[in-house]
Amino acid sequence: MKVHTANDDYELLDSGDERKLERFGDYVLERPAGQAVWQPQAPERWARADAAFDRKQGNRWLNRSRLPDHWVVNIAGIHFKLSGTDFGHLGVFPEQRESWEWVRQEVATAHKTRKKPISVLNLFAYSGGTTLAAAQAGAEVCHLDASKGMVDWARENAALNKLADAPIRWIVDDVLRFLVREARRGHTYDGIVLDPPSFGRGKKGEVFKIQRHLPELLRLCYALLPERPVFLLLSCHTPEYSAGILRNLLEQLMREKGGRAVCGEMLLTGSSPAVMPLPNGSFARWAQG
Ligand SMILES: C[S@@+](CC[C@H](N)C(=O)[O-])C[C@H]1O[C@@H](n2cnc3c(N)ncnc32)[C@H](O)[C@@H]1O
Repeated sequence: MKVHTANDDYELLDSGDERKLERFGDYVLERPAGQAVWQPQAPERWARADAAFDRKQGNRWLNRSRLPDHWVVNIAGIHFKLSGTDFGHLGVFPEQRESWEWVRQEVATAHKTRKKPISVLNLFAYSGGTTLAAAQAGAEVCHLDASKGMVDWARENAALNKLADAPIRWIVDDVLRFLVREARRGHTYDGIVLDPPSFGRGKKGEVFKIQRHLPELLRLCYALLPERPVFLLLSCHTPEYSAGILRNLLEQLMREKGGRAVCGEMLLTGSSPAVMPLPNGSFARWAQG
């Protein structure tokens, strides 16, 4: 596990009592974390929180007025605009930072050996962390999310990272509909990243349920891979889909393509090993190697 250094604007400060305490640049926030079923290790730190989010009596911020309307942080070499949304999200999932570093590395290595730009498809792309990591390494990226607001937010992040003119296609659409259309058009992608939610809605309200749609989603992604793909990265926050389960799914899907899949927990981490990492979802990464 990588412990991130103080020059990263994100750090987990403590967790426990089903809450987490995190620093995002100059602001310290306390938010729910149902998986933190232990006691806080550093109770004295929690008084540092500028604002807190609670789901106990509906979604509610305490002291949101102490936060600016938005602010900018640098996490794993990517600038993100943050804002305290009504759902308690801020515009970044820092447990993805090792995945961003991995994608950047995979793209850069493949770029060197193949001597041509690598094409990457980022599904459920949210505020664009993976899109921007891939673009920083020179990839051509197709970024897709059903929410126009989130795609606009990701474009703002691209501009903050001086990637406004990078070769990124910005798509607002339902994932399953888009994949069917892309297959019909005969498009392929060297690398695909997908981070499906447990439950989501497409552009026209289409229901997405991981339990019902994951097999179809993976089959459709497979149809867009070339004969020798570079990578496939699947992650999620659905507790029933452990790391081993995600790896088994990828190994079975990619059997004909060679390569290998590894898996693990996504973690929120502090800048010192004394802070217990907080597991937050799972990933499986397949690479040609
Ligand atoms: C958990 S977030 C993904 C986090 C992101 N991968 C990251 O690392 O920052 C889920 C995203 O999926 C989008 N979404 C949900 N259902 C969708 C669907 N059917 N088609 C396209 N996007 C969808 C949501 O708008 C949301 O932005």
